[in-house]
Amino acid sequence: MDTSQAPASNVASDAKIAAHAKRLSEQLQSLGSRLFPPDSRKTLRSFTSGEAARLLGVSDGYLRQLSIDGIGPSPDVSSSGRRSYTLAQINDLRRHVANAKPRGADVILPRRKAGEKLQTIACVNFKGGSAKTTTALYLAQYLALSGYRVLAVDLDPQASMTAMLGLQPEFDLADGDTLYGAIRYDETRRSMRDCIRSTYFDGLDLVPGNLELMEFEHETPRALVQGARPSGGLFFQRVGKALNEVEADYDVVVIDCPPQLGYLTLGALCAATSLLVTIHPQMVDVASMSQFLLMTADLLSVVRNAGGDLRHDFIRYVITRHEPHDGPQSQVVALLRGLFGDDVLAATVWKSTAIADAGLTKQSLYELDRGAVGRATYDRAIESLDAVNSEIVGLVRRAWGRDT
Ligand SMILES: Nc1ncnc2c1ncn2[C@@H]1O[C@H](COP(=O)(O)OP(=O)(O)OP(=O)(O)O)[C@@H](O)[C@H]1O
Ligand SMILES: [Mg+2]
Repeated sequence: MDTSQAPASNVASDAKIAAHAKRLSEQLQSLGSRLFPPDSRKTLRSFTSGEAARLLGVSDGYLRQLSIDGIGPSPDVSSSGRRSYTLAQINDLRRHVANAKPRGADVILPRRKAGEKLQTIACVNFKGGSAKTTTALYLAQYLALSGYRVLAVDLDPQASMTAMLGLQPEFDLADGDTLYGAIRYDETRRSMRDCIRSTYFDGLDLVPGNLELMEFEHETPRALVQGARPSGGLFFQRVGKALNEVEADYDVVVIDCPPQLGYLTLGALCAATSLLVTIHPQMVDVASMSQFLLMTADLLSVVRNAGGDLRHDFIRYVITRHEPHDGPQSQVVALLRGLFGDDVLAATVWKSTAIADAGLTKQSLYELDRGAVGRATYDRAIESLDAVNSEIVGLVRRAWGRDT
């Protein structure tokens, strides 16, 4: 019987909602398999020689010479003689260029060295829609494009970052494929390594998310009541302990947090070496941020009293969806800068239809080429994204004790 069709009074709400969920899921699955046939995989475009040269910080002429001399990977050459490189080839070129130009090697091949600790950056704010996912995604991709080894961790059961990185969270994941698999309390807990998958972006791996992450919110109070010291650590240590397993494989971990201050977010705050608090500069959002900061401070002090060491290399506010010509927004930005000074990043991410539209098709502007968007709109958006990301990379490098 199709219970969703019967009069409301005769149908238990759980049955009705379950029927709706089933219908919606079937519809999404058939839509999804049309848009992304099951065996199709998202791929990353290749980059023009000009783009490759910019990413490597060398001239196009220098790259051409390398290709003529047969040094490094062979780019694709079009019938008109244009060379294009995949991101994997660009990252391969980094090694060759760094060998040839030892002076700039530190920037061209920027991976962390012995003694420089893994940077784990969490994007947080319990205000929904404050651009946490967008900030995390663009930062992770920017880092990968710059030659860092990056792990993106989707801690949001809504899993928008996972979807942006080419997976369908509802259909493409089996039990235990999210971070929950590595932080759960029971004996089916698996190695963190089994939760990581590579993406179509060379140098960027992903721990995907989906609804199963909610289990951690439900199970933690039970584990707390039982009072034992569970293997895998206390609830606020579990994300960090899982990340420790793969510490050697990455330079930077970027965690996209859910819009709640639950146990998952708390785990991320404790695992993080740095925090980015995203903020849409509107008075209502700033008001809710004050609540967020109070609650975060409270929770962190509980963790500290329980023996957790909570020092972050940096905590920065990132102004997102910024409209610099909007009067009220400018007042809010001035207020934040007045209150928090240098803890607010100097650069801001401008509001851009290009960013919003790219999001709708599950792509980022770093994946699209200029022609796909409209040059002026694209350039303006990329300029503000690059400015924010390069400021964050500067903070990461400073945390490693580097000057540049
Ligand atoms: N700079 C920007 N310009 C225009 N639109 C943006 C910009 N940044 C984010 N958006 C859009 O705003 C919406 C919310 O962004 P996002 O999903 O990143 O927020 P969030 O904080 O992760 O949300 P949630 O709390 O639900 O996880 C998205 O539709 C996104 O495409
Ligand atoms: Mg999000």
